[in-house]
Amino acid sequence: MECCANYDRVFDQKQAKKDLKRYRKRGLRKSSQQIVDYLGDKIGGMTVLEIGSGVGYLGMELVKKGAKSALEIDISYAYLERAKVLRHELNLDDAVEFRTMDFIQHYGNLSDHDIVVSDKVICCLPNFKEFIEAGTARAKHYYAIVYPRDLRLWKMFGVVLNWSAQFLKKYKGFNFFIHPHKDIHELITQKGFEKVLDRKGVWQISIYEKK
Ligand SMILES: C[S@@+](CC[C@H](N)C(=O)[O-])C[C@H]1O[C@@H](n2cnc3c(N)ncnc32)[C@H](O)[C@@H]1O
Repeated sequence: MECCANYDRVFDQKQAKKDLKRYRKRGLRKSSQQIVDYLGDKIGGMTVLEIGSGVGYLGMELVKKGAKSALEIDISYAYLERAKVLRHELNLDDAVEFRTMDFIQHYGNLSDHDIVVSDKVICCLPNFKEFIEAGTARAKHYYAIVYPRDLRLWKMFGVVLNWSAQFLKKYKGFNFFIHPHKDIHELITQKGFEKVLDRKGVWQISIYEKK
């Protein structure tokens, strides 16, 4: 039995192609758009670090809104090709960089950024505490995070997904997690941040600012 997800297999080229196609057709998902709407007029000249960036559209949209640059980090190599295509399409070749790495393992090699964003990533990770500690350690001004609400719908989805994952080669070792909201909030505020945006849809969208 495998102990850990193979992210290249779960977040593969097919998924990257699908994500890019959706973005081209419909733009950002509502959760990501709310981050851009909140930060949009505050981020002139700031640097962005996006963790678990996938194709990277959130970080790129923040640059389009005035951020100076974005560093897009993802553990899966499969996204890189499509991310480069999108960067070129949006004319952001000089402002957006990609790095394929496990953020939790290697965040110590990165410099601090004004804004750290992470959209629908901790739901893929058992070790959310390490992930948040690493992310807040790199954030100078804002830390924005999107994660599943503590809803019956998500709990049922999680049970079905986690049960069926064991039978599907692609998802073997992968789990969907709903982490306790209280713990997430405490971890972030303990690092000197205060919540400035709290939006609840299907996803929880939280933005914190350094005090
Ligand atoms: C559900 S996808 C979300 C992608 C993108 N944020 C979006 O909203 O389209 C989660 C992403 O997190 C990445 N990821 C998971 N663990 C990671 C880690 N430890 N370091 C960097 N990326 C990670 C996965 O490879 C995947 O691309």
